[in-house]
Amino acid sequence: MNIAIDGPAGAGKSTIAKIVASKTGNIYVDTGAMYRAMAVFFISKGIDADDTEAVEANLNDANVTIRHEGGEQVVILNGENVNGKLRTEEVGNMASRISVIASVRRKLVDLQRDLARTTDVVMDGRDIGTVVLPDAKLKIFLTAGADVRAERRFKELAAKGIEADIKQIEADIIERDNRDMNRSESPLKQAPDAVVIDSSYMTIDEVADKILGLAEERREKQNAG
Ligand code: DC
Repeated sequence: MNIAIDGPAGAGKSTIAKIVASKTGNIYVDTGAMYRAMAVFFISKGIDADDTEAVEANLNDANVTIRHEGGEQVVILNGENVNGKLRTEEVGNMASRISVIASVRRKLVDLQRDLARTTDVVMDGRDIGTVVLPDAKLKIFLTAGADVRAERRFKELAAKGIEADIKQIEADIIERDNRDMNRSESPLKQAPDAVVIDSSYMTIDEVADKILGLAEERREKQNAG
């Protein structure tokens, strides 16, 4: 049973998806990490996201694959494990900018569908319930207020000893949400059959338990029908 989790940046998708995957035995697929790996590629080439022609001309040279090691997703870009390079603001913003380009999306969506064809997945992203896995048995739209998401990110950075301006983080989050929701190619939006969960005032365990409960319900229904 495939589970799709979509939502804006910082809503807690990856933390929750990992827990749900470990409890259901599904493989966790973080699609944002694939867009981030593409971003690493274009940054290293010095290609700007606005230069669609250059992006398209070089797209075939970016070979992104994933494998799983001890439950962790490892992203391989042209033979190199790039996990350590994915989580910067620069890479996140570049990923959001290149993800508006149709040919970039097509390449990654094909890879994501292939993964879900061979194994049960918990896949998180922006277009999983709407485009990548429209037949997923359970679709979640996980959201939280921009201020709450900024505060979570601020604390995450502080825990790593990184100083940041919380207002700037919130402004970046709002800009990223706008770009992800308003692009013409597969924008971030709630699938009509998705269950909306606002995690603003819920703990991680509460959100995970809610999703696991829904998964159980769907499984029972599937077995009965
Ligand atoms: O979830 P994330 O922050 O790692 O994603 C980085 C960017 O990649 C996000 O701003 C938009 C893009 N993305 C996308 O367009 N579609 C997906 N399925 C996942 C991510």
